[in-house]
Amino acid sequence: MKISIFGTGYVGLVTGACLADVGHHVLCMDVDQEKVDKLRDGIVPIYEPGLETIIQHTTEAGRLTFSTDTEEAVNHGEIQFIAVGTPPDEDGSADLQYVVSVARTIGRHMSDYKVVIDKSTVPVGTGDKVKAAVQSELDHRGVELPFDVVSNPEFLKEGAAVADFMKPDRIIIGTDSERPRALLREVYYPFNRSHDRTIFMDIRSAELTKYAANAMLATKISFMNEVSNLAERLGADVEDVRRGIGSDPRIGYHFIYPGCGYGGSCFPKDVKALARTARDCDYPANLLNAVEKVNEAQKHVLFDKVSHYFRGELSGRTVALWGLSFKPNTDDMREAPSRTLMEQLWQAGARVQAFDPEAMEETQRLYGDEAGLQLCGTKEQALKGADALVVCTEWKEFRSPDFAQVAAALASPVVFDGRNIYAPEMVTRHGLTYYAIGRGCNQFSVAE
Ligand SMILES: NC(=O)c1ccc[n+]([C@@H]2O[C@H](COP(=O)([O-])OP(=O)(O)OC[C@H]3O[C@@H](n4cnc5c(N)ncnc54)[C@H](O)[C@@H]3O)[C@@H](O)[C@H]2O)c1
Repeated sequence: MKISIFGTGYVGLVTGACLADVGHHVLCMDVDQEKVDKLRDGIVPIYEPGLETIIQHTTEAGRLTFSTDTEEAVNHGEIQFIAVGTPPDEDGSADLQYVVSVARTIGRHMSDYKVVIDKSTVPVGTGDKVKAAVQSELDHRGVELPFDVVSNPEFLKEGAAVADFMKPDRIIIGTDSERPRALLREVYYPFNRSHDRTIFMDIRSAELTKYAANAMLATKISFMNEVSNLAERLGADVEDVRRGIGSDPRIGYHFIYPGCGYGGSCFPKDVKALARTARDCDYPANLLNAVEKVNEAQKHVLFDKVSHYFRGELSGRTVALWGLSFKPNTDDMREAPSRTLMEQLWQAGARVQAFDPEAMEETQRLYGDEAGLQLCGTKEQALKGADALVVCTEWKEFRSPDFAQVAAALASPVVFDGRNIYAPEMVTRHGLTYYAIGRGCNQFSVAE
């Protein structure tokens, strides 16, 4: 099938590559000329395991092309995916300007039937806005052409995006007519080999499903972080509590890890946007607001621990920081807890020696001018002469370091583990003081 995709970010690019991989002919369009030039030269602008190989061979096979030409993109496919960003507006609502702009583009250039598919995460009611935007351009042109609008939210996880797209848990399709239903079945047929994972519903329910899924996951994290803060004050170990509750199949082990807060391009903005939607329809959404508030506070917990340890005297200190991306296997730094921590440390007069396996370039782009930041080539270099080690992201390569080497390299032997990836005795055996999230009442003991 011939498919056009607007937006070549994490979602658009993965969608385009995976659809081309199963045999569709995909044109990916983006307004970012530099990005499109890179992609045409075979340079993949994001880090996502497995993506580069797929892009390489589908491009070579001629099934995946890139363009900045809107007209070419509209004419290419009967299927038109909108996968542009929906960043938060000042009031927390999703900014729909890019989505609506693509819808207008489609209305402006289409010459035959199109299925316009919202893959971006968009508030309930956006389907109507997209329909109106396409229709108003058609009216302006004085032409009558058939089209359908579909909601097909994306559930891929950064860091496992290709695998998630290839083997989805579910494919949500919100539509109120038969024609797009049949076409979408065909688009996704190759992904439904073992059993049909498609769930059809109306457009509004599909739009809400995406927000509800992310809000639920964010709620699990904030709940566990709240329990970890209680555990710390009550002398309990949240890791034991986690295992204790996870063994209940109604609760389960997934997504109940305490840490230094969730980040990324989705949870923070989607929880805020759903809360905003709730306000707009006069519903108080107390739970959603609390989830967001707990997370904001949690992003400060690591700084509070470090500051407490050094009795508030951070000026002139150097902190080694392992992990900058908001989670492992991605270079995405959007809303990453590491950013809150670094900014607080700089404000307190401390310096940061940081290492991340993939997010160094992105950190350089964001904080290249920051005098208090030194980006280091390895995790060992980041330790040299630092007063403390802080782990912010649970990358595999941080999970089993040589603690004797860590102790020797640090000027003061202390480790702050923002993801509870170490067993305390593993660290303390080497003469290091160890602080984690929610692991007992000694968390706030102050250095002699
Ligand atoms: N990143 C994720 O893990 C993820 C997962 C599921 C859903 N989503 C949702 O998918 C959407 C896209 O997210 P993303 O992370 O891929 O965003 P992104 O910021 O990585 O990419 C968006 C791309 O859209 C391009 N763009 C903007 N206006 C355009 C236009 N008029 N025409 C063509 N291209 C245009 C931008 O240049 C950019 O390359 C968002 O709504 C997001 O909430 C993201």
